[in-house]
Amino acid sequence: MSLEKIDKEFVLSSYGRDYTNFIKGKGSKLYSEDGREYIDFASGIGVSSVGHGNERLSSAICSQVSNLIHTSNLQVIEPQALLAQKIVELSGYDMRCFFGNSGAEANEAAIKIARKYGETAFDKKRYKIITLEHSFHGRTITTVKATGQESFHTPHFSPYPDGFSYVGSVDDIYPQIDDETVAVMIELVQGEGGVEPFEVETIQNLAKELKSRGVLLIVDEVQTGVYRTGEFLASNLYDIEPDIVTLAKGLGGGVPIGVAMTRLKDIFSPGDHGSTFGGNYLSTRAGLTVVEILQDSHQKGEISSTIEYFRTKLDSAIERYPNLFTHSVGVGLMLGLRAIDSTIQQRVYTQGFESGLILLKAGRNTVRFLPPLVITKEEIDEGFERFEKAISTI
Ligand SMILES: Cc1ncc(COP(=O)(O)O)c(C=O)c1O
Repeated sequence: MSLEKIDKEFVLSSYGRDYTNFIKGKGSKLYSEDGREYIDFASGIGVSSVGHGNERLSSAICSQVSNLIHTSNLQVIEPQALLAQKIVELSGYDMRCFFGNSGAEANEAAIKIARKYGETAFDKKRYKIITLEHSFHGRTITTVKATGQESFHTPHFSPYPDGFSYVGSVDDIYPQIDDETVAVMIELVQGEGGVEPFEVETIQNLAKELKSRGVLLIVDEVQTGVYRTGEFLASNLYDIEPDIVTLAKGLGGGVPIGVAMTRLKDIFSPGDHGSTFGGNYLSTRAGLTVVEILQDSHQKGEISSTIEYFRTKLDSAIERYPNLFTHSVGVGLMLGLRAIDSTIQQRVYTQGFESGLILLKAGRNTVRFLPPLVITKEEIDEGFERFEKAISTI
């Protein structure tokens, strides 16, 4: 049986899946079984932050797993404690961390933190969380309900948990706050919603207003975190102090991990929350090594020069193809091109793949770029050559 047939026979079809079989990766290049080479401008949807086959990461993982992969959270886990310390120090916030295995789990933990705060800090219980209409926060029953896109709230999975409401813009948050509102949850750059960054001033005003009204600010940095926007957190770039921040995706470089960090340092007591695998030796050793690699690269100015170079290439593509794209969007290495419509978006994506370039789609009409943060200039050049080749046929 072919791999495609096995997959179709035994794996539930929750993804619209392509059947190219990748068998190796090096840097920002992927190689398929049929001998083709692809430039990876997607990082497995913002995950492979240190590229593929990174030697420092793979040797740290190999030496960790040959000693110890897992014990349990009933004992202290050295790389977990060290990763928590590292993340907190790099964030610049006075926080503590909870470790899970994915972005959705990180956001679940954030919601539980907010709800416990709402239950314990006020005379009248607060539990409502406001999110934005184009947001994306995950696929569990609660995080899909936190996701503000109606299309995700299909009746197939109802009933959903109460307590979530959605607004179209940051300005619409203010009138929505009532005496049962405990938190606002936002992405500073909406990823799945179309690579849409908010204005710095808008977010700073929101943070100030929420603080004055005792409403928590949860920043979902599952996609924007760990240097994706050029700083360790997008919250650092926006110069705000959130109450809760969630991370996942790029943190493990491909090893599943999620984190909710909060300034409510004593919110949980033993038994309030937990995860069998969360924060184990494998994932936190990987996370620690990824953060060390990226911290080095950030300190040397490499990430910022890569961002600048990538952005220049993207802007020049726009200038030459005004018939396909209206403008570029995004920050850092979380970038997009707004296609004139969804047909062009799909054709750029498909033709890109045909030309050996892995791109992503976001929102209705955005072609999205989330390259590894360690991508080289040569790989960027090669990727854009393939991009030009792909779009010249449209
Ligand atoms: C902003 C944001 N939050 C949460 C999630 C969910 O993360 P995961 O798929 O790891 O559960 C995603 C995934 O795309 C995301 O982009």
